[in-house]
Amino acid sequence: MKTQVIIPLAGSGARLNAGTPKALLKLNHKLMALYALEIFEDCGLVDSVVLVTQKQFFNEWLAAVQAAGLKKVKRIIEGGVTRADSVSNGLAALDDDTRIVLIHDGARPLVTGQLVSDAIWLCHDYSAVIAAVPVKPTVKQADTRTLTVTRTLDRSSLWEVQTPQVFHAEVIKRAYAERGPGTAALFTDDAVLVERLGVPVKILMGDYKNIKITTGEDIVIAEALLSGLSAEGSNGQAIGK
Ligand code: CTP
Ligand code: MG
Repeated sequence: MKTQVIIPLAGSGARLNAGTPKALLKLNHKLMALYALEIFEDCGLVDSVVLVTQKQFFNEWLAAVQAAGLKKVKRIIEGGVTRADSVSNGLAALDDDTRIVLIHDGARPLVTGQLVSDAIWLCHDYSAVIAAVPVKPTVKQADTRTLTVTRTLDRSSLWEVQTPQVFHAEVIKRAYAERGPGTAALFTDDAVLVERLGVPVKILMGDYKNIKITTGEDIVIAEALLSGLSAEGSNGQAIGK
């Protein structure tokens, strides 16, 4: 069963505000997206990768992919105005015989091979699988104008969604075909479109380390995690011990 990966990389990184698109930033001297691309290169369950970026960076990515020896990146295609537009272009570029589609944000460099293969395996039993972690903080809903709390959400039922998200090809293609009008704020992940079809979306326990680079502090955290300075095994030793 052929499995292809779509990596949307065509965002501007407005919230990071680095003066350059987020995907072109380096973490520990390596292009952010290369970390995930290497995971897919090494994953035996993945056949090939479609990379979605801005047209003006095609050559840059082609060079980076070649320099890193990534043989599974078969296509580099143009993104769209919103993330959903970019993924939609990626879906149109898939091979006809692809049965499983994995979508992963180029801005999540800390994804692991284990999470990728677990998600693909689970997608044999479910037509939509998303990595997610239980929400740690208390989350409140507020009136955006007055900034007063309208209600407190029940944390026990809340999950913070990540990528990878893996789908049966015909399901995610139908979800996008029936996407209809909607704002970028509504379509911040791919599963939401599948939910609108009424198709069940299965949660796979993600990884708290699989953070998305969104604002400046995420870079500091990601570089520390990538350097192996993870909190794993740490028991919070007191100062001076
Ligand atoms: N993305 C994309 N095309 C867009 C917008 C986003 O391919 N038009 C990609 C980003 O490059 C990123 C992923 O979707 O890898 C997740 O989006 P996000 O973290 O929101 O990145 P940006 O949209 O670039 O950041 P911001 O929202 O702060 O502008
Ligand atoms: Mg965005």
